[in-house]
Amino acid sequence: MKILVINGPSINFIGIREKNIYGTETYEKLIKMIEKRAGELNIELETFQSNHEGAIVDKIQEAYGVFDGIVINPAAYTHTSVAILDVVKAVEIPTVEVHISDVNNREDFRKISYIRVACVKSISNRGFNGYIEAMEYLNDNYNK
Ligand code: DQA
Repeated sequence: MKILVINGPSINFIGIREKNIYGTETYEKLIKMIEKRAGELNIELETFQSNHEGAIVDKIQEAYGVFDGIVINPAAYTHTSVAILDVVKAVEIPTVEVHISDVNNREDFRKISYIRVACVKSISNRGFNGYIEAMEYLNDNYNK
């Protein structure tokens, strides 16, 4: 199956930003981990990171009819973006929401996810492993 992994703002700064929350491992390490597991599962993979809401919307539109699953960590846009919610609904691609940290036990505003209702699953507080679990979930349930 074909899976698109999308990361939002400052996920490329993982390993640099708030290490007490997100750890010391880098974005490059995260991508390598995801690529390795995708290879083992025979998943055709594309990864994408952007700090721009519109670029993420464009990428999800471009995924329409091309990808069988999306794994997305919208980062800060999780808590603000109706645009990302709407495009996930629009393309009807099974989508798993991932957060590295425990968003339900941080500031109150992080408990709100605009995108969650459009997702088939939501994973948080699992570190980088959350992305692996998300790919496995899509592979187990939506592989054609
Ligand atoms: C995050 C949690 C968000 O609240 C935050 O804005 C991020 C990262 C996470 O992966 O835990 O940038 O999505």
